[in-house]
Amino acid sequence: MKKVIAIYPGSFDPLTNGHLDLIERGSKIFDELIVAILRNPEKDPLFTLGERRDMLEAMTETWKNVRVDAFEGLMVDYAVKVKASAVLRGIRAISDYEYELQMALMNRKLSPELETVFMMPAEAYSYLSSRLVREIAQLGGSIQGLVPDLVERRLRQKLDPSLKFQEVPKPKSRKKS
Ligand code: PNS
Repeated sequence: MKKVIAIYPGSFDPLTNGHLDLIERGSKIFDELIVAILRNPEKDPLFTLGERRDMLEAMTETWKNVRVDAFEGLMVDYAVKVKASAVLRGIRAISDYEYELQMALMNRKLSPELETVFMMPAEAYSYLSSRLVREIAQLGGSIQGLVPDLVERRLRQKLDPSLKFQEVPKPKSRKKS
């Protein structure tokens, strides 16, 4: 029987528990799931591509049919390259639907044989987004329970200037007696 390979494309800046919830659901219905991080030279992400990849790899290693990759350019071209026949996207609320439908239909126009599959994350994550996580963390709020502990630690390291720019204490100048 034909193996069904799906890609789960996104920015993942940063990875949230909502993304992980969807990856777990996707891993159960597809033979192989490729989490594909968009390399977008026009965007100025908080985390570098390497950092995002690192966190995703660490958090998905338990699912043996899940792997992490990066892509540039059109998603439909990347899908052909990795022989994917489906694209997984999450829909949290009706507000997501319009944008997701537009993107799915445009991708269908570009590549009619590529199917977009929408899945809903757990209700607890229906209000969660990477953008809000970044904003809350940047303004000093708690993001506990919204992202994996590893991501929380990395966010804190990135945003807390006292951790990032820790000054090396200058040696006291010795007074000559
Ligand atoms: O996590 P995001 O930012 O909502 O993901 C958006 C993403 C990466 C799925 C979308 O921007 C994308 O597929 N970009 C690649 C370029 C492309 O194919 N554009 C045409 C979309 S119809």
